[in-house]
Amino acid sequence: MEKLVITGPTPLKGEVEINGAKNAAVAILPATLLIDGVCTINNLPNISDVQILCKILEEMGAKIVWNTSNEITIDTRNINTNQAPLDLTSKFRASYYLIGAMLGRTGEIEVGMPGGCKLGARPIDQHIKGFELLGATVEVGKGTISAKAKCLTGNSIYMDVVSVGATINVMLAAVLAKGTTIIDNAAKEPHIVDVANFLNTMGADIRGAGTDVIKINGVEKLHGDCTYSVVPDQIEAGTFMLAAIASKGDLLIKNCITKHLECITAKILEIGGNVEDYGDSIRVWYSKRPNKAIIKTLPYPGFPTDLQPQMGVVLATANGTSIINESIWESRFQYTEELNKMGAKITAQGKTAIFEGVESLSGAPVYSSDLRAGAALIVAGTAANGVTEVYNLEHIDRGYENIEEKFRQIGANIERVNE
Ligand code: EPZ
Repeated sequence: MEKLVITGPTPLKGEVEINGAKNAAVAILPATLLIDGVCTINNLPNISDVQILCKILEEMGAKIVWNTSNEITIDTRNINTNQAPLDLTSKFRASYYLIGAMLGRTGEIEVGMPGGCKLGARPIDQHIKGFELLGATVEVGKGTISAKAKCLTGNSIYMDVVSVGATINVMLAAVLAKGTTIIDNAAKEPHIVDVANFLNTMGADIRGAGTDVIKINGVEKLHGDCTYSVVPDQIEAGTFMLAAIASKGDLLIKNCITKHLECITAKILEIGGNVEDYGDSIRVWYSKRPNKAIIKTLPYPGFPTDLQPQMGVVLATANGTSIINESIWESRFQYTEELNKMGAKITAQGKTAIFEGVESLSGAPVYSSDLRAGAALIVAGTAANGVTEVYNLEHIDRGYENIEEKFRQIGANIERVNE
C-alpha cells in the first residue's frame, strides 16, 4: 500500500504550474466520440481518470497516440461497439459522458453504473430526463445503464437542479440532434464553457455556455483536424492558493485563469490573506493568522464544493469559530474526522461543520475518503508539526498530476512510500 509521508511544518514557497482541468478533460475525451476524424488535445492532465478514459476509448476502437505526457492525438473513426467496458466505466463518475456522446454518435450505448468519489447520493435523474426529452429511452439495470434512440430531436429542457454532469451530458447528446435544444437552469462552471468551446472548434453550434441558458443548434457532423487545449484547472489552482495560506507560505501559481478563482480570492482576502492577480498567474501569501469565516458551497460562480475541504484546513487553525455549509454533497465532511486526529476541533453534522480554530495541527496517520479530502490532508500535513502519513492515494491520483513532486518543488518535505 502506498502512502505519502509529510514532515512539517514547511511554509510552501516558490512557483507552481497548474495542469489542465480534470473535470473538463474527462468530458472532452468522451466528446471525441462525436467526431468522425482525428484531433489533438493538449494541456491534458496526466491523471488516472484520464488514463482510464483513454483505455475505455481504445477498447471501443479509438486509436490514441501520446505525443507528450500531456498531449494526445485521437482517431475515433473506427469505433466498433456500442458497449463501453463495464468494469472500467464503473470505476469513475465521468463515464456517464459516454452515454451522451454515444447517443449522439450511434444512438445506442451501454455503460457500467458510474462510480467515483463517495460523497453521498449521486443521482443522475436530470441526465436521464434530458436524454428522454431528446427522444432516447434509458434503462437503468443492475450495475449498468443503457440508452437507445432511433433519432434524437432537439427540445427544451429545464434542469430541476443545477448539475454540471447533466448540463454537459445533454449538450453532448444534442450536438448532432435534429433541430435546436435549449438547456435552461444550466450549470456555468468553467469546464462547461471549455467542453462547448471544444465542440464548437470541431464544428458544433453551441451558444450561451457559461450562462444558465445554453442553446444548441444540431449540426450534421463534427470534423476533426483540430488541436484543442484544455482549460487550466480552477480547483488545482485553488488548492495551491489555500495551501499557501494554510502553510504560512507564499506561492506564485502559474497557468491559471484568475477570473475563475474570484470566489476563492474574495474569501482569502476576507480572512486576512494576501492576493495579487496577474491575469494568467496569481500570487497568494500569508502574513497573519487567518480570521474566522462563514462559507457556503454553491454552483459556480459560488464557492466550489471541490475546494471546501482545502478551505476547511485553513479554517481549522483560524482565529475564532468558522462555519461551513456544504450545499452540494451530503457526505463531504469525512475529512474533518481526519483533521481532528491532527488536533483540529471540528464538529460536523449533516451539511454543516463548525470549526473551532486551534493554534496549530500535529502530524498523524490519516485516510483520504475522496479526491479533495486527500488534497486537503496533504495541505494539512505541510502545515502540521511532525509527521503526517496520508493513505488511500488512489483517490488523489485520480485528479492531481504528480502531486508530491509539485509539493516538493515548493518546499514540502514529502515522499511517496510503498509499504
Ligand atoms: C461534478 O460532479 C464534478 N465531477 C464534481 O467534482 C463536483 O463536485 C460537482 O460537479 C459539483 O461541482 C465531474 O465533473 C466529473 P452535479 P457531478 O451533477 O456532475 C444533484 C471532484 O472532486 N444532482 O453538478 O456529478 C447532485 O446530487 C468531483 O472533482 C441531481 O439531483 O455533480 C448534487 O447535489 C467530485 N440529479 C448536485 O446536483 C442529477 O441528475 C450537483 O451535482 C444530477 C445531479
